[in-house]
Amino acid sequence: MNIAIMGAMVEEITPLLERFGEYKTVEIANNKFYTLKYKNIDVTVAYSKIGKVNAALTASILINRFGAEKLLFSGVAGAIRDDLHIGDLIAAEALVQHDLDITVFGHPYGFVPESKVLIKADTKLLKAAQETAKALNLTLKSGIIATGDQFICDGAKKEWIRKTFEADAIEMEGAGVAFVCDALNIPFFILRAISDAADAHAGFDFDEFLQSSSKISADFIISMLDKLEKQI
Ligand code: ADE
Repeated sequence: MNIAIMGAMVEEITPLLERFGEYKTVEIANNKFYTLKYKNIDVTVAYSKIGKVNAALTASILINRFGAEKLLFSGVAGAIRDDLHIGDLIAAEALVQHDLDITVFGHPYGFVPESKVLIKADTKLLKAAQETAKALNLTLKSGIIATGDQFICDGAKKEWIRKTFEADAIEMEGAGVAFVCDALNIPFFILRAISDAADAHAGFDFDEFLQSSSKISADFIISMLDKLEKQI
């Protein structure tokens, strides 16, 4: 089994690499990919750098060059739904590009040409994640994650995204990864721990909680690997 684990920022993958301990480093396309063996799983870890385009490039390389058969994303997000607090975990059931706007041609907000608005995550991986959460006695929330090339730190913009897409959380990579995995038929799972509330304090909160929330997400992903390893 070959599994890729992706983050967007170095802070998001550092807790993973610290837990794995030993790995080889390969450089491709101005980025680093860390390969290792975890139990009987071949794992490649990478951070894409921020944004949908970087995320899509890294996901493509993980699949096409490193042979990833499943892709797990670990990182942080801004909360949109009111019951999501700093450090809470949310898994994407579906993802949307909130900044993709070709409404002038009669399409809904977020519509991807020759595709759809929402891309659904793999139900088997979501089930494995819920079972992992249950075994750890943790709450794993799930919902719609909205992705765009903007750091949202404004109540009105957040409200627009909530109303338009019924989104629960916001980040800047997930839908890019989802698009690539969906197109290439690779099951994917996007996990985020909340770092801020996408409001006027978001910049400050993000800096304050990036590390701790990244670790919460990374620890969960490793527990999930243990679960997946038993299923192989
Ligand atoms: N990632 C974490 N918080 C975010 C926010 N408020 N907007 C966009 N991406 C984020």
